Amino acid sequence: MNFVSRFGGSKCLIKRLCVNKSRYISNQSILGIETSCDDTGCAIINDQGDLLAESLHSQHLMHLRNGGIIPDVAQDLHRSNIKSIVSNTLDKAKLTVENISAIAVTLRPGLPLSLAVGMKYAKQLARRYKKPIIPIHHMEAHALVARMHHNIKFPFLVLLISGGHCLLAVAQNVNKFKLLGESMDSAPGEMFDKVARQMKLRNLPEYSKISGGQAVELAASKASNPHIFKLPLPLAEYKDCNFSFNGLKTAVLLHLHRKEKEHDIVAHRLIPEVNDLCAAMLMATSRHLVHRTQRAIAFCHNNNLIPPDNKQLVVSGGVACNNYIFNALTTLCNEMDYQIYRPPPKLCTDNGIMIAWNGFEKWRRNIDIVTDYDSLDIKASSPLGENLIQDVISAKIPMKLMKLKL
Ligand code: KG4
Ligand code: ZN
Repeated sequence: MNFVSRFGGSKCLIKRLCVNKSRYISNQSILGIETSCDDTGCAIINDQGDLLAESLHSQHLMHLRNGGIIPDVAQDLHRSNIKSIVSNTLDKAKLTVENISAIAVTLRPGLPLSLAVGMKYAKQLARRYKKPIIPIHHMEAHALVARMHHNIKFPFLVLLISGGHCLLAVAQNVNKFKLLGESMDSAPGEMFDKVARQMKLRNLPEYSKISGGQAVELAASKASNPHIFKLPLPLAEYKDCNFSFNGLKTAVLLHLHRKEKEHDIVAHRLIPEVNDLCAAMLMATSRHLVHRTQRAIAFCHNNNLIPPDNKQLVVSGGVACNNYIFNALTTLCNEMDYQIYRPPPKLCTDNGIMIAWNGFEKWRRNIDIVTDYDSLDIKASSPLGENLIQDVISAKIPMKLMKLKL
């Protein structure tokens, strides 16, 4: 894709970029490093926003065996892999660090032990080769990477659904976000992972190597009668855009344990209704996500946060890979006259490309280009943008859940 089509074809914008930032039309590239959780990722993006190379080492199978992420184990694996992941990426791009303009690295939020590995390595490279560092916020990177493949103009609404997060925000610019809602407890991916484990889905070969969320989606696709399981609509009484998944998870597990008793299930066997229960959980999750997004659209309309000619929803994060959830959100967007976008599946889950892309977006705008390395540090938690959650709560926008044919 060329520069004009990717950035919306605004000649005015392109002229401004080329005149004011003449360095951007020379051959310069951004190297991105991601180690915030359990993926060691690296990618290089050139000055035209094109991907030159990428590498990813996923620790998924190790953590699947351990029944969850053990931070020390994650850190050890990042440490063992970071050097080769970065040098493989440089080799694939036929570049050396000398050819790189800046190093973008995730510094927040995430597992401190994991984040520290990426930061340390980025600082080492930066010092040695005298390159600036561009600090990256993991959730901002998830939110913006869809712009790499789609012509999405600011401002836009973003629903970020992953293993660690669930939030609704308005992306006003590369470094300007307004937070409308977030999860009060867990994230949807976390719920899928925990429930899939309790259902023992990975005892079946077809689910043994995939994430809990993928397993739930695959099992749900084989359902015949999901309506035998009744599940609640979380936070139905609360007129805000926050999320909650703990109640839903408990309700699913109660059904699971009831069925296990009923069928006298022991050891490694699964309940016969496992596909129906997965489908019921996916439906309830989709309803909850649609319900809150519907209110966020209304809040944006009432407060002029999204202009009428910019009605765009970006869905990102690992759970955005789920076609069932995405289709439910598409139905909402069709109804509300919104365009809906999601990055390709590989860019929805954690990766180095979204970090390099975020670095590229900041670099071409001269934002967050840091040479005082000591001023940079990691942060385990870090809210996304300006918090408008209280304003959303005060607005008390009534919202009847749109009819969904699920
Ligand atoms: O974005 P991500 O890689 O990591 C975080 O930043 O959290 O998301 C990983 C999460 C996992 O919980 C995984 O189960 C979930 O995304 N996931 C899915 C699907 N693929 C991955 N959830 C539902 N359906 C999927 N197809
Ligand atoms: Zn993530």
